[in-house]
Amino acid sequence: MNPRRNELVEWKALSQRAAALRGQHLRALFAADPDRAGRFSAEAAGWFLDYSKNRIDQEALGLLLAYARACRLEAERDAMFSGEAVNRTEGRAVLHVALRDRSGRPVRVGGQDVMPEVRRVLGRMAEFAEAVRGGAWLGHTGKRVRNVVNIGIGGSDLGPAMVTEALRSYAERGLCVRFVSNVDATHFAEAVRDLDAEETLFLVASKTFTTQETLTNARTARAWLLARLRDERAVARHFAALSTNAALVAEFGIDAQRNMFPFWDWVGGRYSLCSAIGLPVMIAIGPGRFGELLDGFHAMDRHFAEAPLERNLPALLALLGFWYADFLGAESHAVLPYDQYLARLPAYLQQADMESNGKGVDRAGRRVAYPTGPVLWGEPGTNGQHAFYQLIHQGTRLVPCDFIGFCRSRNPLGDHHDKLMANLFAQTEALAFGRTEAEVAAAGTPPALVPFKTFEGNRPTNTLLAEELTPAALGALVALYEHKIFCQGILWDVYSFDQWGVELGKQLAGTVLKELTAPGDPELRHDGSTNALIARYRRLRRG
Ligand code: F6P
Repeated sequence: MNPRRNELVEWKALSQRAAALRGQHLRALFAADPDRAGRFSAEAAGWFLDYSKNRIDQEALGLLLAYARACRLEAERDAMFSGEAVNRTEGRAVLHVALRDRSGRPVRVGGQDVMPEVRRVLGRMAEFAEAVRGGAWLGHTGKRVRNVVNIGIGGSDLGPAMVTEALRSYAERGLCVRFVSNVDATHFAEAVRDLDAEETLFLVASKTFTTQETLTNARTARAWLLARLRDERAVARHFAALSTNAALVAEFGIDAQRNMFPFWDWVGGRYSLCSAIGLPVMIAIGPGRFGELLDGFHAMDRHFAEAPLERNLPALLALLGFWYADFLGAESHAVLPYDQYLARLPAYLQQADMESNGKGVDRAGRRVAYPTGPVLWGEPGTNGQHAFYQLIHQGTRLVPCDFIGFCRSRNPLGDHHDKLMANLFAQTEALAFGRTEAEVAAAGTPPALVPFKTFEGNRPTNTLLAEELTPAALGALVALYEHKIFCQGILWDVYSFDQWGVELGKQLAGTVLKELTAPGDPELRHDGSTNALIARYRRLRRG
């Protein structure tokens, strides 16, 4: 059996280096190395990463890279790209990279080249998207589609919702694209309340086509449509499915031959954005722009596959996150996009990261004796500055942050963009260098206020900069985070591509649901708290 990660000599060396660096301030690290910003930066696929404001030095970075190699990071990466079943707990390959492979080379799963099928589905999606965008796809009563409502949850919602918002400035504005995910009827009701059924197309997005929330919303959508159009045949013109499960799609009443866009079990739900799950994005921005998005993904994929770890952006981000989580006590990680269009990026990354690496046993099934994936959170700058940055600056917790920004705005109005970016740069400077007691006192601060106005600094940040929020830049950014998450799974020796932890709650919800609506006085066999809550709900649910 492999040694546990924290038994490796490379882990122990990291532990020692962390202890030595713990007392070092970023001020001292910058003073000691005038070329630090040049030394600790790298570039790929349109993204520049400055990671110099991290609590590392050349020695620590060398030890982190040595640790990555001891974990066979490069070999594991190559195994994923070559279509090996690296998702071992589910016996599946992990090949979201094939969905955006633009090289023309075959990509094999079990000996079979999957690329012809990938291209065929992309071609069908493009035809469909063009037909909807151009008004050729008509609803049951002959009207063109003006509203697209995607019904899905988790990976079948967060990615397309995030990208549709992020690329709104490239979208066909005559089309309204909305997303319904929550089983709370409010989500559906509010999404359709001002829509005309004759002009509305529903995309039911579910890898498994068994997800309670999605199927409930899809059935409600069907009932909503039929109540207005009063003809079962309308379903064929107003519903399409994005799924791997043709049998259940057909059972739902959607023509799986004509109105289903398939993908495959080697695409994980939270990594499915470039599959048929991306159809709402393609409808919004068009197949050409969607192709540019895939180009960006592919460029970052090639960088990840080919660049040495020393210059490899996903590997570097992964190692830094690992360093803080396991050696410097960080429990969370903030993603702070300085672009309003990226408002949904933290929510998207929460699923990608926390569902992948929120694991407590290693690949041998042993309880891990070290922290794994952090809590990921964030909000767009500058809103966050006026909300939670106080804690990052002066609180007692270490919160490493990624600051993400662009050199040009999609909406260049007045001096907004310079102000936005001035805030980004200023925040990373303030977090790193702070303001010493002596500086605060020298500024004439009354002595009693000095402790309150002192900024300790030494708060680590990464800065990611690209020229402009283009489809390609966004694709590369998402791929960067996907591969960072992959690398961290290797560093922590956890399986990143299953999500068994979400199952228990789903199963229990099935039992509870029956009890909430059972006639009479059903016997409740839960714990005292759950029994009492169910009983109270039963008493009050009808008002
Ligand atoms: O409950 C978690 C999950 O399985 C996610 O991993 C997935 O993205 C989501 O549910 C939705 O699943 P599906 O696409 O099969 O409806």
